[in-house]
Amino acid sequence: MFYKADTRDHGLPHDPFKAIVAPRPIGWIGTRGADGGRNLGPYSFFNIVSDSPKIVMFSSSGYKHSARNAAETGVFTVNYVSADLMAAMNASSAAVPYGVDEFDLAGLTAAEGEMVDAPYVAEAKAVLECRVTQIIRPVGLDGREADAHMVLGQVVGIRIDDSVIQNGRFDVALARPVTRLGYMDYAEAGPLFELARPKVG
Ligand SMILES: Cc1cc2nc3c(=O)[nH]c(=O)nc-3n(C[C@H](O)[C@H](O)[C@H](O)COP(=O)(O)O)c2cc1C
Repeated sequence: MFYKADTRDHGLPHDPFKAIVAPRPIGWIGTRGADGGRNLGPYSFFNIVSDSPKIVMFSSSGYKHSARNAAETGVFTVNYVSADLMAAMNASSAAVPYGVDEFDLAGLTAAEGEMVDAPYVAEAKAVLECRVTQIIRPVGLDGREADAHMVLGQVVGIRIDDSVIQNGRFDVALARPVTRLGYMDYAEAGPLFELARPKVG
């Protein structure tokens, strides 16, 4: 099948677009409001965009609390979503009013960042502490801004739970990341294998 993306003329019950760009890592974003309140929300429009300096981004469809707080305070944390935290991650995605603390809502322990004035999930296997570098409104072919707010931040601190370090590596099999697929689907990382990059010359 083929369909023109802007018409969404796919004839399927749901747009398959996000199921194609999958699996996506979930950035579980911890922020503080300008009023001091804590906020936590999952974002699968999340990834690394630069390795040196280390820059990550999450993108908010509409101006949600995480984007607003990051814009107002200039900092955020990214918390690792492992299989044991799946239910808490989902609970924190509830569309609750501004000011509701999703750490409390999800039964999580909030701890304070080492390098940034933002809360993180104490139970998380890994945490990236970030300072906002840019907030971008993506523009479509028609020149109009999408109602998307891409928050980029430089990672200034990295916390890892020692239990997932094995043989000198961050052991993904131990950390058990959960990824977002399309629709309401998720996946855990499958069996791991190594593949060396090709050598030229
Ligand atoms: C696994 C998962 C991934 C999500 N990814 C996104 C995303 O990338 N962008 C977005 O705007 N909302 C996303 N959502 C929905 C937000 O988490 C939800 O709207 C939440 O209430 C936002 O919280 P906040 O307003 O406190 O930032 C996702 C929800 C789930 C469960």
